[in-house]
Amino acid sequence: MLRKTTISEDFHHLQDHLQEAVKKGAKGFSRDAKSLEKELAGLIKKAERYTGQLEQLMEFSSILNSTLDASRVRELAMKATCKLLDCEGATLYLLDTEKNELYFETIVGAVASEQLKEIRLKVDESSIAGTVAMKRASMLVNEVGKEKRHYKQADQKNRFHTKNMICVPILSRSRLLGVLQALNKDQGSFTKADQRLLETLSHQVAIAVENALLYQNLRAQFHETVMALATAIEAKDRYTGGHTKRVALFSVLIAKHMGLSKDEVEEVRLSAILHDIGKIGIDDKVLKKQSALEPQEWEHMKEHPELGYRILGHVQSLKTITDGMRYHHERPDGLGYPLGLKGEEIPRVARIISVADTFDAMTSTRPYRKGLAYEVAFTEIVKNRGTQFDEKVVDAFIRAFKMERMGKKQKKDAGGT
Ligand SMILES: [Fe+2]
Repeated sequence: MLRKTTISEDFHHLQDHLQEAVKKGAKGFSRDAKSLEKELAGLIKKAERYTGQLEQLMEFSSILNSTLDASRVRELAMKATCKLLDCEGATLYLLDTEKNELYFETIVGAVASEQLKEIRLKVDESSIAGTVAMKRASMLVNEVGKEKRHYKQADQKNRFHTKNMICVPILSRSRLLGVLQALNKDQGSFTKADQRLLETLSHQVAIAVENALLYQNLRAQFHETVMALATAIEAKDRYTGGHTKRVALFSVLIAKHMGLSKDEVEEVRLSAILHDIGKIGIDDKVLKKQSALEPQEWEHMKEHPELGYRILGHVQSLKTITDGMRYHHERPDGLGYPLGLKGEEIPRVARIISVADTFDAMTSTRPYRKGLAYEVAFTEIVKNRGTQFDEKVVDAFIRAFKMERMGKKQKKDAGGT
């Protein structure tokens, strides 16, 4: 806001001169037209620059608020700082509330070193960032060399020479989230206007960081719930011995080799963890039977996808997850269950879990049969490409099997038969 005042002050100054000119007439006026013209041109340039910065600020705000990925938010905040303030680097420290320390989180621009990640600063006056965090007030330091509180180790570790900096607190409803720093102005030194600009940006960063943190917590809670549900089914069906974890691992590998995005892979993982949750509703006699199932027992067992869907299907936001649960026994040739869907009628997540699930089932030893060798199971899946299994999924499975030592490595990681 002060930026606006500065430019309006400049305009008022010019207006005074013009009024003087009108009052005194051209003769008595102390300034010539040329100098006035020059001043006006300078002001217009300044106004253009401010408008550009405001536009950038608005653009960054909308980009920042368009993602809930915490690390992406932080990276964007740093990039915005460098671009908006025309400076060499930017750093972001977040607050560790338990220890009341700032820890290094993100860095971009010239200031980029892995070693910086080890830095932790106390929230006190022993460093510039600590002071800013403690006082919750920004600082502009144009001669860093003369500032005793400058944390020199950061420069040494990074072989970076901080000449000047602006450090602002990131506050959300007066709660401290961290500290944002702009380092080394490209030309000259930082101005008060730069300081105000970074303060404005820090408000946007605070909102985005807080939203991302809340979302992160929510996801963590959700994952814990998912794991608790999966553990419940594993406890009931002890012969599966790590089946859920392995199916999740295999599904993730296949999804990655299909080129799915990070978020999509995560959905596949959760869906795979929960794919057999419906077995909670299957009679223990059938579930724990130590010999091959009778036809009517199979019919009962085949109800588990629908049972799972009945447990979580009403939660709209879990659509992909419940799709995997409900359709992982469907087959592209229409011979699967429960609905006998064909080809791409079967959601992609379910087509992926189907391959991962079958691969693990075939290679796992049951009380009534020994597991197949990985290569044998692999050949069997490839043989059924396009009939029992989706072609694209099998192609990704082939790549995953060959490149990730699929089976051996993951069985060891997830434990099991
Ligand atoms: Fe199943």
